[in-house]
Amino acid sequence: MAKQTKKVVGTKAVEKLLITGGAGFIGHHIVQYFLEETNWDIVILDRLDVSGTLNRLTDLPNWEAQKSRVKFVYHDFRAPLNEYVTTRLGEVNYILHLAASTHVDRSISDPMLFVEDNVVGTTNMLQYARTLKNLKAFINFSTDEVFGPAPVGVSHKEDAPYIPSNPYSASKAGAASMGIAFFITYGVPVITTYTMNNFGERQHPEKLIPRTIRSVIKGETMPIFAELNSKGKLQGVGSRFWLHARNTASAVHFLLQKGKAGEAYNIIGFDELTNLEIAQKVAQFVGKPLKYKFVDFHKMRPGHDRRYALDGTKLKELGWKPLVDFETSLKQTIDFALEHPEWI
Ligand SMILES: NC(=O)c1ccc[n+]([C@@H]2O[C@H](COP(=O)([O-])OP(=O)(O)OC[C@H]3O[C@@H](n4cnc5c(N)ncnc54)[C@H](O)[C@@H]3O)[C@@H](O)[C@H]2O)c1
Repeated sequence: MAKQTKKVVGTKAVEKLLITGGAGFIGHHIVQYFLEETNWDIVILDRLDVSGTLNRLTDLPNWEAQKSRVKFVYHDFRAPLNEYVTTRLGEVNYILHLAASTHVDRSISDPMLFVEDNVVGTTNMLQYARTLKNLKAFINFSTDEVFGPAPVGVSHKEDAPYIPSNPYSASKAGAASMGIAFFITYGVPVITTYTMNNFGERQHPEKLIPRTIRSVIKGETMPIFAELNSKGKLQGVGSRFWLHARNTASAVHFLLQKGKAGEAYNIIGFDELTNLEIAQKVAQFVGKPLKYKFVDFHKMRPGHDRRYALDGTKLKELGWKPLVDFETSLKQTIDFALEHPEWI
């Protein structure tokens, strides 16, 4: 993999990173991270759909000073990348493939879109990667959801079987499988990552944390997904592990240096909270009470799983450590949202 890259201000960039979905939530945190921590140039490929906006980038604190290092290329990769697109992308050394349709509820109402964006789209990106002469790594972003629910006490390792429960996770399993196949068949240097629930500044307002902040500010009742029996009695509350997107960005940078093509790595958060606990923590940081009611997720959201969990030993043993801790980064995310209500 790549040599350690030092931040060299004022020196001509030697590497170019292509980020698909760089106008999306995690993508823009990765853009910010690489602008701050390397001297690489970045090219973003995105179609700016309901989850993507260039305002995420122009909103970054160091944007004005750094924007000459970032180029934007418009393309919807459900279509293969033709010459108009590849010419604009230019020479590329690394691809971080994040762009995807990501909202589980939308995958349930429109599964074919998820096949097109995630399976067909990823295959188009991999086909493009085959044409690159100086490609050092293609990071194919996947999710803990491909492994299906994890019973309490179980954390899936990277080689666990895919048992997706909904069209989103099934399409991500298809996309990850295509990446692995392109490594084996054509030698494309694909690294697969499985990531847990990310949070951070400028996340889509439909997601749990921004939604909870809004409900708490307005004094509205927040639905908390749980398992209820036929009499409405609580059987258990869903839980997730959480990590700030800056930790995901630092893990990606680490993998470009230490990761091995053909391998998969779990990028984990260390803090598991039930849906009620995370909502209560958000309310505590906002400084207002949480009003909530339990709703049965089986009834409301078929295909949603109660718990996901990944084993992070492989990345830890390679030497990666998270950059920011959960409590501090959650507090900062909430302070940012309170100061910038346009993002929630
Ligand atoms: N957010 C999480 O908690 C989480 C957890 C695990 C894995 N992931 C994975 O990380 C990646 C990024 O997630 P996110 O939450 O930042 O996503 P997001 O929904 O915020 O952003 C997705 C971006 O991709 C773009 N896009 C979608 N389809 C496209 C297409 N066909 N052509 C071009 N651009 C397209 C959108 O315009 C948007 O800018 C995804 O692959 C997702 O599956 C996310």
